[in-house]
Parts: sequence; C-alpha cells; structure tokens
Amino acid sequence: MSSKSEVLRRLEQAKGESISGEDLAKSAGISRTAVWKIIQGLKEEGYAISAVTNKGYCLAPNTDRLSAEGIELYLPESMAGKIHVYKSVDSTNTVAKQMALEGAAHGTAVLAETQTAGKGRLGRRFFSPEQSGVYLSMVLRPKLTAQEALLITTAASVAVCRAIQIVTGQSPQIKWVNDVYLGDRKVCGILTEAVSNFENGEIESIVLGIGINFHWKEPLPNELQQKAGALFEGEVPLGITRNQLAAELIRQVEILTEQIPSRAFLQEYRERSLVLGKRIEIHNFHQEPYFAIAEGIHENGGLIVRLEDGSLQTIQSGEVSIRGIFCHE
Ligand code: BTN
Repeated sequence: MSSKSEVLRRLEQAKGESISGEDLAKSAGISRTAVWKIIQGLKEEGYAISAVTNKGYCLAPNTDRLSAEGIELYLPESMAGKIHVYKSVDSTNTVAKQMALEGAAHGTAVLAETQTAGKGRLGRRFFSPEQSGVYLSMVLRPKLTAQEALLITTAASVAVCRAIQIVTGQSPQIKWVNDVYLGDRKVCGILTEAVSNFENGEIESIVLGIGINFHWKEPLPNELQQKAGALFEGEVPLGITRNQLAAELIRQVEILTEQIPSRAFLQEYRERSLVLGKRIEIHNFHQEPYFAIAEGIHENGGLIVRLEDGSLQTIQSGEVSIRGIFCHE
C-alpha cells in the first residue's frame, strides 16, 4: 500500500476524530513532513481535512468521497487491491471490460465519481453526475452454464436491493427484469455485458454494471424528472456514505452470484417484484406492445404472463410497464 493510501485509510477509519501527524507518519513509514505533503494533496483533491495544533489531522465527519481505501474498510482483506476508483471515466463498464480482457480477477470492481458516457440498456445513456451516485462495474468469472449465466442480472437486482436495505433501511422493489425502484421512482439500473474471446467466440467473463442514484448534486434533466429518483431526496443522514454502499453492493454481488446454481435468491426476487399480480404492458421491440397479467417468475428468470386470451407465456427479454410507472420511453 502506498503512503498516501495508508494516510487516507487511517483518516477514513477515524473520520471525525483527530490523528496525530506522528501517528500517521509511523503507520505510513514516512516523515511528518511527508505526511503534511500528502494531506495538502488530499485537500487539493477536495477532502475536508482540518489540522488542529497538538491534536493532529481530522477528516470532516460528513465526508462522502469514493475511494478504494474508504470502500476496503468495509470489506474482507481478500478484496484488497481489487477495487479501482476513478475520478472520471467514459463508462465503468468499458474500463472493466478492458481490465477483463487483460486478465482481471473475478470480483475486480471499477467505480467512478462520474461517467461522461454512462451506458444504459438498449443503447441508452445513464445519467451519471459527479458525486451523486455509485457507478460500479464488476468483472465476474463465475463457473456457470450458459443458462445459469442468464440469471446474473436477476441475482444482481436482489443484491442491489439487499445492499440498499442494509445501508439505508429502505426497502426497494424490482421491476422486471432488473430496474430497482423506491416508490414509483427508478433508483438503480443494471447493465450486464459479456466479454468474449475473439479467437473462439467463448464468453470469458461478464461485466456487471450497476448505477445507483444516491443523492443528486445537480438538477436532473427534464426527461428524467418524472422517472428517476435517488436514495436520499433530502439530506443524507450522517454516517451513511457511498463507500459503505459500494462495499455492501460488492459483498452482496459476490454472495448472490454464488447462489445462482441453487436459485436460492429467486424467492426474494419474487417478494420484491413490483409487477407480480399486476396488469402490465409488454414491449418486446419485435411486435406491437400488448397487455397481460404478470403471474410469476420462471426458474430461468423469465416473466410468466397470462395473455388476454387466457394462455400463459414466459417472456425472456423486452421491457414491461405498469400503469403510471415506466421509466424508459
Ligand atoms: C439501465 O438502467 O438502462 C442500466 C444502467 C446501468 C448503469 C451502470 S452505471 C455503472 C455501469 N457503467 C455504465 O456505463 N453503465 C453501468
């Protein structure tokens, strides 16, 4: 770990409390002057650090900046070195895909404070303003059959709900297939991309991209105002941070991808479903939208619907809308 990482790790760990320059110097194995220089650098990056005579350095208690050091505090040591946080990238999925091609290990996580070209499903853009969300992409190399791999997004939506619930106490729901809602607002979208080997066409790894709106720091574009929401519309309670949420997300994704062969998460997916039992409109791009009643979630993640003629159908792709809730148009 670099000296800068060690200083930041100690400050994040003791957030709101002072640590002496001597103490920091000792744990980073550097001089007090070198600590001072690192602190100046962190302040230039935007960290609010106060220096109190005879007490030392203190990171402001309401600090909420994404960092690998801040995320790793909440994760087991085995994850050390697998978290990569950037200030700005075009898309964390694109960066993670490149890392996957270069051999990144299962569980490698890429995060950014902002994305200049965040990608949504079906070629759409994902609004990713600075310091407002958790934009995370994970490289997954699960040992799954092709059929099981289709359940990654289904499992990921349960992972997102659990992480949000554990960190914020709010109980999100899922609109098939993988949009996460609080009330009638979409607060998270998921985009899974396969990374295949050019030579043999086989899927080598999967990049799982998760975008959670945490707290808006800038006004939403008009077209999102009626559809998108954030975990916190007012003040973010002190002590809840994006680092904490990112760590919980990574932990839950790891847990739930392990459960794919047993389908153990499907019951929770059903319980969190926004569509089951409702009349929905199905848009599958190859035909005119049509109405049906959402009756169940198939073992392979498909949505079982009852058509107006009484017959049952399982849909695997497309989008559904419920009256009053449809976030993509
Ligand atoms: C959707 O709702 O259409 C899916 C949105 C997925 C957004 C996330 S943010 C992190 C990762 N990087 C991207 O460019 N997209 C995903």
